[in-house]
Amino acid sequence: MLCLKNKSNAEWIKVALENLPLVIMDHAHCEKKAAGTGISLLSTYYDKKEISFSMSDLVEEEIGHYRSVIKILEKMGLTLGRDEGDEYAKKLLSFVNKNEPERMLDRLLTAGIIEARSCERLQILAENINDQELRKFYKELSDSEAGHYVTFVRLAKTYFDENVVKKRLDELTEIEAEIIKNLQNKPLMHG
Ligand SMILES: [Fe+2]
Ligand SMILES: [Fe+2]
Repeated sequence: MLCLKNKSNAEWIKVALENLPLVIMDHAHCEKKAAGTGISLLSTYYDKKEISFSMSDLVEEEIGHYRSVIKILEKMGLTLGRDEGDEYAKKLLSFVNKNEPERMLDRLLTAGIIEARSCERLQILAENINDQELRKFYKELSDSEAGHYVTFVRLAKTYFDENVVKKRLDELTEIEAEIIKNLQNKPLMHG
């Protein structure tokens, strides 16, 4: 699926369905953080036009997703809890190069990989959830995150040689697959 080198552990969806409110709350935080990533990228790379325009679109979409998720919580009579953090993303981002211009490449590619994994998880939810409205919602969001993955890889190829991008994407997806393999199947979007 997309660039991913493995599938999520089959146990995750069982835990997720048993603790759906927690997954939905974590999802809201993920969408908020995705918007934050977009803002951060267009702030750091303010002179890169492609990044400015693409991230402006992305931020709008992600904050729209956030709004939709908090509406679902509202409908369920739930109040958003605090952000439990994202160990998965933290681990992956620890591999981002500290020095430019490699840092920019890594920031774009890790953002793309997180979108790809989110796309997979949303698709798993869409396929396994009973509620028809939620099924449709997760399918739509899964498609949107797949589009974001494509955007990040396209941006990487705009500023770096295609072979350099491919090689680094291959390295980072190896690392990501290892992180996913060792997750504890918590009721979190990337748990
Ligand atoms: Fe999103
Ligand atoms: Fe996204």
